[in-house]
Amino acid sequence: MQIIQTINELKNIIALNKEKTIGFVPTMGYLHEGHLALLNKARIDNDFVVASIFVNPAQFGQNEDLDRYPRDIERDTQLATDAGVDILFHPSASEMYPFESGITINVGDLSTKLCGGSRPGHFDGVLKVITKLFNLVQPTNAYFGQKDAQQLAIIETFVNAYNFPVQIVRIPTVREPDGLAKSSRNVFLSTQERDEAVHLYQALQLAKITWEKTTDLTVAIAKGKEHIESNTSGKVDYLEALSYPDLQNVTGETKDILFATAVFFEKARLIDNILT
Ligand code: PAJ
Repeated sequence: MQIIQTINELKNIIALNKEKTIGFVPTMGYLHEGHLALLNKARIDNDFVVASIFVNPAQFGQNEDLDRYPRDIERDTQLATDAGVDILFHPSASEMYPFESGITINVGDLSTKLCGGSRPGHFDGVLKVITKLFNLVQPTNAYFGQKDAQQLAIIETFVNAYNFPVQIVRIPTVREPDGLAKSSRNVFLSTQERDEAVHLYQALQLAKITWEKTTDLTVAIAKGKEHIESNTSGKVDYLEALSYPDLQNVTGETKDILFATAVFFEKARLIDNILT
């Protein structure tokens, strides 16, 4: 595996491999089994696999955890090597954003709900980096986790609306044995919070089951929230149900419903979701 830190080197290597199918896995590093599921699928599907590790400042708000986002490039390098990655792109912020163009991407309506509601500008920043990365890597297939369901829906819509020549591949959420979704931010949980955090997934399942039994979303959501409030020390940011992937209010016509939640713990905001 080759580690590359500059855009020029990356462009040269991509040009040399342009006849191959390229699988791309963008990440912010501190890799865990969730990321590895994406890398493994990319390795199976493609001739050439590119992964990126870049903690993207453009998607972090003023009071968010950009500076203390967990990083361990040595361990990540080993994991990526073991997963059969060909190129690991690990640029600095000044390499990625050498100048401010003043041109921005505005996600609009899809970013007003769920995480977008409490993280204004977050998804604009995600699309900023994804646009650059797609233009540089020119992947045949790009892999994203269902764990970040809103991000995945926005990227699918963006690619579709603006005709990016890439196939987006969805990967199911990888969980700990007790059900907690794997996340780089789980390291910020205290021992007690780690035990409590399993209740996010349980609350989502409770909401889904209640919906299936009662067809009353208000009751289903209230039950889910109540489950988190009475079983954790966390503060519910939201627990909502929307159609997926278009993120609209649920109606009689809705086929797939996304139950999603975000919960603030002392040092981490965790998210999770399930689909009906
Ligand atoms: P990051 O949080 O590092 O996640 C990278 C990819 O791994 C995303 O597609 C995410 O959905 C997926 N992932 C994370 N945890 C997962 C889990 N438990 N199961 C399955 N997939 C999981 O998401 C980002 O980085 C950034 O926003 C990025 C897309 C790289 C843009 O900066």
